[in-house]
Amino acid sequence: MEISNGLEDVCIKNTALTFIDGEKGVLRYRGYGIKDLVEKCSYEEVSFLMLFGELPDRKELAQFTSDIQKGYALPEFTRRVISSLPDDSDALSVFETAFASLSCGEDGFVWSRENIARKAPEALGRASAVVAAAFRHMVDKEMKMPVPTDSYAGSFLNACFDGDVSRQSVTVMNRALVLYADHEVPASTTAAIVSCSTLSDMYSSIAAAVAALKGPLHGGAAEAAYAQFEDIGSPENVDSWFQKNVVEGRRRLMGFGHRVYRTYDPRMAIFKSMARELSTSAEEKRTLEIAEKLEKLGVERFSPKQIFPNTDFYSGTAFKCIGFPIHMFTALFALSRTVGWIAHMSEYIENGGRIMRPRANYTGHGPRVLQSASQK
Ligand SMILES: CC(C)(COP(=O)(O)OP(=O)(O)OC[C@H]1O[C@@H](n2cnc3c(N)ncnc32)[C@H](O)[C@@H]1OP(=O)(O)O)[C@@H](O)C(=O)NCCC(=O)NCCS
Repeated sequence: MEISNGLEDVCIKNTALTFIDGEKGVLRYRGYGIKDLVEKCSYEEVSFLMLFGELPDRKELAQFTSDIQKGYALPEFTRRVISSLPDDSDALSVFETAFASLSCGEDGFVWSRENIARKAPEALGRASAVVAAAFRHMVDKEMKMPVPTDSYAGSFLNACFDGDVSRQSVTVMNRALVLYADHEVPASTTAAIVSCSTLSDMYSSIAAAVAALKGPLHGGAAEAAYAQFEDIGSPENVDSWFQKNVVEGRRRLMGFGHRVYRTYDPRMAIFKSMARELSTSAEEKRTLEIAEKLEKLGVERFSPKQIFPNTDFYSGTAFKCIGFPIHMFTALFALSRTVGWIAHMSEYIENGGRIMRPRANYTGHGPRVLQSASQK
């Protein structure tokens, strides 16, 4: 049996959701370019597009939005689960645990079109409430459920922060949600598909995806990339840090490299321009300068190997400017990607997806005579 380490170049499904041209740096959702979607659409519209194939008309959008909003109020038992978690829990672990709790009572969930149309907006509403609750838990503030506003991004930010949330923050949050909404079948989406292929329910399968997202090689990269900027501390230190850690220490440059892109990740430039727009304080400007210097050195060294900055290199800088601490970044990614996970699971089942059951090539002992300790 031929083994593909890391499932590289293994195709697990047909998809009409997301197109990536890794050589040219092109990303489209259902045929629409990512830049257009970011500039012209709300996350709700993009979610509808991903789930149902077309952008919604006004009536469809109003219904879909109202269905999402019905999901904002978490069940009491999930609120209790979140409140009972240790104070220093990271936000993604809270997300994972909360979604596992939401799977209680979901036994026998059937992946029919009707059930997906009902459950998907509910899960998006729940995700907003859960991530906001995870944030409030992290900063030791009382949980607030999102309340309907004119946007999913705005309701989410209002549930996170006290006081007024600026229009600019809402716009940036919406753009980030659109940018992270889907990316074909990375590890987390594959984990979701493996789970749903057994006909497990939607909430359990999202929890499985979240577990796979957590690692620094996948969703955790935005936190790891930003941690580098903090570790460097000042623009003057970038060269020596890079030499010591990356060149001599052979440490991976986080926020660089991608299994599919052999050029710039098209989402990176959008996050970079948002980070530039938002970085106004002296500290934010300093972090941005560090990031830009590090990007330059990284590209000089790694572009010959076709390793370029990915979406996570600047996303954290944008999230930080909105007011989120570093340990929220992966949860914000998960919030956005929830729709991608659901859309891929639905598509997999709809296209007659079978249970995922690969093989492993046995390389262990041949037959052995068993003698247990008690027989000796
Ligand atoms: C994303 C990632 C996991 C893709 O991995 P992959 O396709 O399996 O590629 P590999 O890990 O096999 O790496 C291939 C080569 O590129 C190098 N490489 C890949 N990413 C690198 C990085 N960020 N910094 C330095 N070297 C890197 C590897 O060391 C390896 O070199 P070698 O052939 O000399 O051993 C990888 O690029 C990475 O670890 N990036 C940093 C984490 C990150 O930003 N993840 C977010 C992805 S959106």
